Amino acid sequence: MKLLVVGGGGREHAIIKKLRENPSVETIYALPGNGGIAADAECVHSIGAKDIEKIVDFAKGHGIDFAVVAPDDPLALGCVDRLHAVGIPCFGPDAKAARIEASKVFSKNLMKKYGIPTARYEVFDDPAKALAYLRTASFPIVVKADGLALGKGVLIPQNLAEAEAAVKSIMEDKAFGDSGNEIVVEEFLTGPEVSVLAFTDGTAIAPMVSSMDHKRAGDGDTGLNTGGMGTVAPNPCYTPEIAQVCMETIFLPTLAAMRAEGCPFKGCLYFGLMLTPDGPKVIEYNCRFGDPETQVVLPLLKTDLLTVMQAVEAETLADLTVEWSDGSAACVILASGGYPGNYEKGKEITLLAGLPENVTVYHAGDRLDGGKLLTSGGRVLGVTAVGPDLRAALKDAYAAAEVIQFEGKYMRTDIGQRALAAMEV
Ligand code: AMP
Ligand code: GLY
Repeated sequence: MKLLVVGGGGREHAIIKKLRENPSVETIYALPGNGGIAADAECVHSIGAKDIEKIVDFAKGHGIDFAVVAPDDPLALGCVDRLHAVGIPCFGPDAKAARIEASKVFSKNLMKKYGIPTARYEVFDDPAKALAYLRTASFPIVVKADGLALGKGVLIPQNLAEAEAAVKSIMEDKAFGDSGNEIVVEEFLTGPEVSVLAFTDGTAIAPMVSSMDHKRAGDGDTGLNTGGMGTVAPNPCYTPEIAQVCMETIFLPTLAAMRAEGCPFKGCLYFGLMLTPDGPKVIEYNCRFGDPETQVVLPLLKTDLLTVMQAVEAETLADLTVEWSDGSAACVILASGGYPGNYEKGKEITLLAGLPENVTVYHAGDRLDGGKLLTSGGRVLGVTAVGPDLRAALKDAYAAAEVIQFEGKYMRTDIGQRALAAMEV
């Protein structure tokens, strides 16, 4: 079979490595891929993940049997709709279903209409009305841009002055472009956060192993929000009892709501949950695999990934048992010094060879130049180790992360510590 994967980060590398395990896979094309992905797939760097027409032409011209659209932008732009229109089976939601991530107003209204637990909220398209509301609100409060904003469109003002600055930045200065035409202002929730990714064909659902992201740049969850500095799986806060509650009050009602709205969701649905004192609530939905959650979740998948994805597309997921290993996985992101602010690129990456068998390096931001791998992004590598338990996985991930070198390499040193602490209480 010939497969096509749209995207070029660590998440896509993890998907590609897993797809490779299926013996019927001959070729995988990655559009655009990256330097490290080139070892596992044929990368077409000239076609970006948002070049929908070029992606469709490429798929038609290369006899693609199955396509996986991984990032949010092409999903929201209708890449899956277009591939389906030319007869190519795909994994991923169509544009209508992708609104569950692409519009926070859509997802908040969906949850309100169908009684799915989430933070109380108001929607504003007029900055004056938003400000009038904020003058009566209690703090902290949460201000979110409606549209896609690279995970950065969420601000948590601690007082009225910060709230006024947040509204000005999103709605007037358009810090996130048209994503900020509307905002959601919502109640500040507290409790441990859990990411649950789930395969779904619109009706049946197979939740994956739970995980925990580390979004802030600095140790102790300080500093700026990033795309994610590391992950662990499973998340010890997510007990079987909580999983049952989530299935009944969140997962199945969300699928039913999407069907009732005429946009059944097929693909990977990501539930960003907060385990509040009042029970689990939805912080956000994503219409895709998380990055870097995928880098700890897929290594624990025992069932063949392509088989699962094909069952999602064929809407036969209910007939398949999706199995997971009992162990743990940890991923430590190696970033370019300065990220998520300004950073330098073009630094040579060395000492990637000879790592132990339970360690996999997923490439997120690098390119090949005359046989050398050079850094080309903020998040450069995700170093994942699997082990019998979280402590073992973390030890091996950090040992490998210490060995790999590039100038300016930066990593958090406390990935997994909160999870370990949660296991002790
Ligand atoms: P989001 O992009 O919606 O996942 O938000 C990014 C981060 O902001 C989340 O991972 C939470 O840590 C935080 N956050 C978002 N919404 C809330 C909320 N209602 N209460 C508390 N924290 C929140
Ligand atoms: N790691 C969070 C996300 O993928 O949105």
